[in-house]
Amino acid sequence: MKNLKKMAGDFFIAGSGGPEIYTGKDMIAAHKHMNISGDEFVAVLDDAMNALQANNVGQREQEEVLFNLYSLKDQVVGI
Ligand code: HEM
Repeated sequence: MKNLKKMAGDFFIAGSGGPEIYTGKDMIAAHKHMNISGDEFVAVLDDAMNALQANNVGQREQEEVLFNLYSLKDQVVGI
């Protein structure tokens, strides 16, 4: 979990402009063979959005994060 949290944080920070550099696997390699369902994917997005809300992130920024995360669906679900 510790490594996963660090990697997920780095991925998010790198993908939203830095300064962290992401050194982990690409999304297909990281999630391959886990057979993640669409519902499971949405549950993770819900958790992410709840975390943004709990930390008072603005509405516009929340929408941008949702858009970015959702764009990764094909690389995470059902592979
Ligand atoms: C847009 C959505 C998601 C993003 C951006 C994301 C991102 C990541 C990242 C950055 C890693 C680290 C890879 C590495 O250590 O090299 C990871 C690993 C992992 N993800 Fe996701 N993830 C997403 C959705 C999900 C979902 C929906 C699940 C399961 C329901 C999931 C389960 C896991 C697990 C179990 C690992 C650990 C794999 C391992 O240590 O071998 N992820 N993810």
